[in-house]
Amino acid sequence: MAGTIPRELEQDPVPFVKWAGGKRSIVGELRARLPEQFNDYWEPFVGGGALFFALHKQLRRAHLSDSNAELMTAYSVVQRRREELIERLREHAGRHCKDYYYTVRAQQESADEVAVAARLIYLNRTCYNGLYRVNSRGEFNVPFGKYKNPAIADKANVMACSRALEGVELRACEFSEIKPRRGDFVYCDPPYHPLNSSSFTTYTRGNFTEEDQVRLAGFAARTRNRRVCVMLSNSNTAFIRELYSERGFKLDVVLAPRLVNSRAAGRGAVEELIIRGY
Ligand SMILES: C[S@@+](CC[C@H](N)C(=O)[O-])C[C@H]1O[C@@H](n2cnc3c(N)ncnc32)[C@H](O)[C@@H]1O
Repeated sequence: MAGTIPRELEQDPVPFVKWAGGKRSIVGELRARLPEQFNDYWEPFVGGGALFFALHKQLRRAHLSDSNAELMTAYSVVQRRREELIERLREHAGRHCKDYYYTVRAQQESADEVAVAARLIYLNRTCYNGLYRVNSRGEFNVPFGKYKNPAIADKANVMACSRALEGVELRACEFSEIKPRRGDFVYCDPPYHPLNSSSFTTYTRGNFTEEDQVRLAGFAARTRNRRVCVMLSNSNTAFIRELYSERGFKLDVVLAPRLVNSRAAGRGAVEELIIRGY
């Protein structure tokens, strides 16, 4: 039974999807810059949720959201229907091969949320570079990944993530729809402003444009002015530095390894910004 692992024997959760821009490599840098105290935790671009899963034990109440509706369905299924999800992932694992991958990839949207979550996790674990990308019609279009032993049905981690998500508010929405209150903490990890035109910045239908970056900076400043602690990540470009320094935010440059990139030449450490309004 999936529910029988005693809590004290459980492993610490790590993101159940590998996401472009995942923050696992700089969690230490982010942690070192948290506000000393805060009430609720908000993450409106949650993606793989690396910072949330690293911090979950010290959070009072958390609110996670993302504009990617399938991803938020997966969070909700991990939270509420973990045993059915593990069963479904085991079925995928048992049938996994190149042809099966393309059959699952071609499947249309399903009304069954457990099927939606299992498909997303299965494709994420087995696709090329483990990177989520949809085409202009919103279809997942990444080729097969040729991994020897992909961890498709990672029961211990699904269980640990499910526990971490107990009591957490989950929502599929645009970042500007969240309503943090005074004393809360918001961490924003938006699609990054591109360093060059080949940078990977497409996560959902429609790009996150410079206009969206300006909208986010305005939202961050208004939120900070309501005495909410706001921290953001972004790439270290002149455009982003100006957006936030002119609004009075503090900027720190940190080095982050870049793992998700289709060209090997684009891998390696890059500078990025941690931006704070406190
Ligand atoms: C850089 S990723 C987040 C990475 C994440 N912090 C992690 O550790 O894996 C950016 C996320 O923003 C989401 N997103 C893009 N546009 C958005 C919008 N307008 N509002 C909310 N989320 C958005 C994408 O679906 C994607 O999951």
